[in-house]
Amino acid sequence: MSTSIKNICCIGAGYVGGPSMAVIAAHCPNLQINVVDRNKDRIDAWNSISLDDLPVYEPGLKTIISRFRGINLHFSIDIEKHISEADMVFISVNTPTKVKGIGAGQASDLKWIESCARQIGTYAKGSTIIVEKSTLPVKTASTIKTILESYVLGNNTDESKNKTFSILSNPEFLAEGTAVEDLENPDRVLIGGEDKNSILVLKDIYLKWVDEEKILTTDLWSSELSKLISNAFLAQRISSINSISALCEVTEANINNVSKAVGMDKRIGKYFLNSGPGFGGSCFKKDISNLIYICNHYGLSEVAAYWEQVILINKWQQKRITRIIVDKLFGTISEKKITVLGFAFKPNTNDTRDSPAIHICNDLLEEGCFLSIYDPKVNENQIKKELSQSENSNSLDISTSLYEAAKGSDAIIILTDWEEFFNIDFKKLSTIMRAPSWIFDSRDVVDQEIAKNFGFKVWKLGNG
Ligand code: NAD
Ligand code: UGA
Repeated sequence: MSTSIKNICCIGAGYVGGPSMAVIAAHCPNLQINVVDRNKDRIDAWNSISLDDLPVYEPGLKTIISRFRGINLHFSIDIEKHISEADMVFISVNTPTKVKGIGAGQASDLKWIESCARQIGTYAKGSTIIVEKSTLPVKTASTIKTILESYVLGNNTDESKNKTFSILSNPEFLAEGTAVEDLENPDRVLIGGEDKNSILVLKDIYLKWVDEEKILTTDLWSSELSKLISNAFLAQRISSINSISALCEVTEANINNVSKAVGMDKRIGKYFLNSGPGFGGSCFKKDISNLIYICNHYGLSEVAAYWEQVILINKWQQKRITRIIVDKLFGTISEKKITVLGFAFKPNTNDTRDSPAIHICNDLLEEGCFLSIYDPKVNENQIKKELSQSENSNSLDISTSLYEAAKGSDAIIILTDWEEFFNIDFKKLSTIMRAPSWIFDSRDVVDQEIAKNFGFKVWKLGNG
């Protein structure tokens, strides 16, 4: 290594901090890694004896945690101790959209980033490399730098005078559900910074398992901005294909055939062209909103309006699905039982943040139906919490099996493409639902010919 570092502290033990540090620990046995969080319940869950109780569900994660936890990977609430011992501190805290005040609904709320900078300023000793892992508005490194400087300048104790900080941007590109796979084999690792030696220190860590040509080093601002733009481009593809799904439905075309034909052009590429109930998750909407806010801040209103449309189409797609369901069920779903299959925003995760299911379930409840919801990984409390804002939140029931959920239903709506839903037993289902029974498939998981043979009426998104 360029400068030997021994001790890493990661602030934030969430969906990014936990898995990303676990993978570093697995590849760097000489590093001690402490993941800290002020949420004691979360840290307790990371330390739980049963690996089924980890706070984040990701395929492959349990194995890594079982091998390295307590060896060179530790989870702790002792933030002061671990920052003070660290040579490198990753900031991996939440950066949600502001809910009130200036920029509400668009700007990122940076209060957690500021609190990290102040914790680091207070507790760090000697030379510390700060790594921005969280997704941040471009130029945030300069804010962090200003805060950190205030803990050194004008502070005359020997300890303060010996403090030096170098800030790097190293955004995370993992997707939930494939986090371990993405971390093990990233398309690229991006490191932005000013200090060449600090860049090399971080690069040396990744070189333990990532090919050098995949490690891109840039200036700070390009790195910070590239993360926002990557998410904006991905979300834009989803809104583009979703807008065309509606056109397919009215022109008797098929969205899968269109996606395939379009994606086979290698200049366009085949990924991220699956139509569905709109993108969810904690980041796409937040990051595009932030991009819109930044563009407006710099007076680029046309650019802001362009990206705003990606969010508008996403909302429209979700509303559109509810309208179609009501329309097909004879114009009313009041007092009907509707089964929702899938509540997570995508399969292989228990994350429900901004899941399309929340918006669609709220709209369905508003229409007066009784909802029965089943998700293989999201528990009852979580679903009820997400729907607690609805005035009709009493009209729902959470089931622990698909068939229990479907009993007596008029319709099933598939909102997450969990593996289990590809193998629905339509024969069994036809005996327990009320006829005429509808299947609304927003994720292309149902073979409609099989379902129709068992008497189901089937609507598939984007299928004319
Ligand atoms: P998260 O909410 O799951 O975890 C953040 C954690 O930080 C929380 O447990 C919180 O208690 C803790 N925290 C906040 N401030 C703290 C402080 N001052 N001291 C100690 N702990 C503190 O968030 P996440 O999903 O892991 O996302 C973190 C960042 O990574 C965000 O900026 C997000 O945009 C970005 N990101 C997320 C993903 C993803 O898949 N979730 C992927 C790439 C990038
Ligand atoms: C996304 C990006 O893919 C990651 O690169 C990024 O690091 C992360 O956001 C982040 O910054 O948080 P994630 O939100 O975990 O990852 O999951 P995706 O696979 O991108 O899916 C997001 C949403 O888009 C899901 O609701 C998914 O169902 C939907 N989607 C995805 C589609 O509707 N169609 C597609 O073709 C792909």
